[in-house]
Amino acid sequence: MTATVWQQNIIRGGILVKSSIFIEAQLEVVYDAMECETNQKQSIIMAFSPIHVTEPFLPPLEEFVPYLEHIWSSKRLTNNGCFHNQLEKELANYLGVKHLCLFANGTLALITALQALRITGEVITTPYSFAATAHSLLWNGLKPVFVDIDPHTRNLDPERIAEAITPATSAILPVHCYGIPCDTEAIGRIADTWGLKVIYDAAHAFGVRDEGGSILRHGDLSVLSFHATKVFNTFEGGAIVCPDAKTKQRVDYLKNFGFADETTVVAPGINGKMNEFSSALGLLQLKHIDEALAARAAIFRRYAENLNDADMLEMTRIPEGVQWNYAYCPVFVKSQSPPPAVKRDELYRRLKDENIHPRRYFYPLITEFPMYRGLHSARRENLPVACETADRVLCLPIFPGLAREDVDRICERISRTYE
Ligand SMILES: Cc1ncc(COP(=O)(O)O)c(C=O)c1O
Repeated sequence: MTATVWQQNIIRGGILVKSSIFIEAQLEVVYDAMECETNQKQSIIMAFSPIHVTEPFLPPLEEFVPYLEHIWSSKRLTNNGCFHNQLEKELANYLGVKHLCLFANGTLALITALQALRITGEVITTPYSFAATAHSLLWNGLKPVFVDIDPHTRNLDPERIAEAITPATSAILPVHCYGIPCDTEAIGRIADTWGLKVIYDAAHAFGVRDEGGSILRHGDLSVLSFHATKVFNTFEGGAIVCPDAKTKQRVDYLKNFGFADETTVVAPGINGKMNEFSSALGLLQLKHIDEALAARAAIFRRYAENLNDADMLEMTRIPEGVQWNYAYCPVFVKSQSPPPAVKRDELYRRLKDENIHPRRYFYPLITEFPMYRGLHSARRENLPVACETADRVLCLPIFPGLAREDVDRICERISRTYE
């Protein structure tokens, strides 16, 4: 077994090691030299193992085996198998929504949602998101129109949306970034006034609720991702939340090549189906989701306790009345001098030197990518808040298995950077 350590001088327990690769045998020499107790060995291992921004939540393997046995004996691997159908029901119930269609991943769900509502022309969206949000528009031959974000929610700014509407606009594609809800009321009002559809990219928003219930009820459709890095994962996966049975029927046709029955094809559909292995994992994950969410909440609270008074950082504020899912732990560097991007990148590098791997979600902005940067709406002067936010953000590690001591260690390294 190999434990990788970044090229650096590492001083741990009084021993200086200069190495890029640390193999177990070498560690044993270190243990012997230090006459290590088991708990000391543990802390050495902890210090050398990387801490990533996230780790997938996986239930105990033995709990998954009966599901696999069922799949093996039924020989049903995909195509609306029993785990698939059961997961659709149980997820809708857990999330508090009426209708839900499972997908192989969130990107295919986004692409299909746009197809299902027959969106055309221009779609207003945010530059501050993962590439898949805007890519789903290009895959449908639609033109993204980027609009700046609100400095508090980091989601589409409703005031900017109205200014960007043209006769070609047919929809709005907002993102509940980090799972923090968009201003759904204002967006709903704009959509009603101008006759626009709203598809929420809710990839980060599993389980998030506002005062009226699930935030997935807003808009015409909401799209979830169950990717390995998400709060709720099915290895890969996703879903579209639909308001009624008729829309679900259409989406179900579209995700299965457009087949309505054995011989009838009603639309140029795609293969977006979730298989039985992912569906089975989803059923098992649901049994553990409340404990996983509680663990995330505890980690976030620990970060807040340690960092709330840090002069240089701004923590994420949970809006009043929102039951959040702690999907991410974004912090924002405050410094103006040197510029925030310099400060943020310095912090990012120093943490990486310590084998702690935060991520700069979302830097660069989608509008910086070559397929978007030529658009008028992608100009930096049109997107001052998004540009500034992308330069200041750092997402700290957060996942159910992250130890409290590791959170404290990360915070201590952050504080040290700003001494
Ligand atoms: C905002 C957002 N939209 C869409 C996606 C795409 O989801 P998937 O990876 O399941 O295709 C992701 C991330 O993975 C995302 O973060």
